[in-house]
Amino acid sequence: MTTEVFCRTSPSLALVKYWGKKSTRHNLPATPSLAVTLGGVHTETRVRIADIDTVRLNGELLTLDRFTPLFDSLRRAAGRKVRFQVESSNDFPSSAGLASSSSGFAALTVACARILELELSPAQLSAFARSASASAARSLFGGFTLLPAGGFAAEQLYGPEYWPELRILVVLVSREAKPISSRAAMEATRLSSPYYHAWLRNAGQLLDPALRALETRDISALGSVVRLSYSRMHAALLASSPPVLYWLPNSVAILRECQRLRDEGIDAWETMDAGPQVKVLCLASEVAAVSERLQAVDPRLKIIVASVGEGPVCQVGER
Ligand code: DP6
Repeated sequence: MTTEVFCRTSPSLALVKYWGKKSTRHNLPATPSLAVTLGGVHTETRVRIADIDTVRLNGELLTLDRFTPLFDSLRRAAGRKVRFQVESSNDFPSSAGLASSSSGFAALTVACARILELELSPAQLSAFARSASASAARSLFGGFTLLPAGGFAAEQLYGPEYWPELRILVVLVSREAKPISSRAAMEATRLSSPYYHAWLRNAGQLLDPALRALETRDISALGSVVRLSYSRMHAALLASSPPVLYWLPNSVAILRECQRLRDEGIDAWETMDAGPQVKVLCLASEVAAVSERLQAVDPRLKIIVASVGEGPVCQVGER
């Protein structure tokens, strides 16, 4: 009989974006990020003790370079030299700009810590996850989360029940893996974009208005800040050398449709990450109207309706 730990997490969607590192060595974010954990989309990870480290994502064996530092630091903390056999799957496209690294590294951290019998607080788990991928620090919690600039761990600001009417429509513009990883693109922005420092200065200034809008659950006030955050992040990216452009024609068509909806008085506020997918914030009462209009942009687009999600769920079993 082998012990197996199962962990399910949800991706963390940034409303105010993390883009750029204060320290590449310790993977500390240069900008604060405010995020919502997406309910209804999941990563599921199973970990067992084995003779060698292996990681499979959706059945495919991955190279270990992104994983070994996390495994080593957890092994060091536990004072154990065991190896991990990891099988992970996402019920949404991986590496396509849907924050799969946030839920993936969060699930991996929780499952490995559990199998090592490490007694860690949520903040300590968040710090381990952050060292592997900064957005993963936020997936350690449900609801609305904050990872400060230079922060080691994320914190939960409000639980999932705080805003039950909020919906996030995830519009899948393409299922292909992104041309350049967020990590590489972030580094390219830092090293070659003349707008990088302006982005850093401004990113910090967007946090307060976003927090105030969240405090009053004001979707249009929040949406306007969300829109500025992703637009400015992508402006800095596009000014890199060579330029990085994640948007596809249908991404732009969706952004324009959101603008038309807003012109008609319907709150539909889009955001984008390191990929062509568009995520649209709206209220539950307007999901049908917004989805119908976005679907009409291109009937081939898949739209997933997410709500505000829970933090990790973990189980220990025998197999
Ligand atoms: C655009 O967390 O994937 O989704 O720390 O290098 O692993 P690393 O980067 P990652 O970057 C996420 C960037 C983003 C914005 C965000 O989630 O805040």
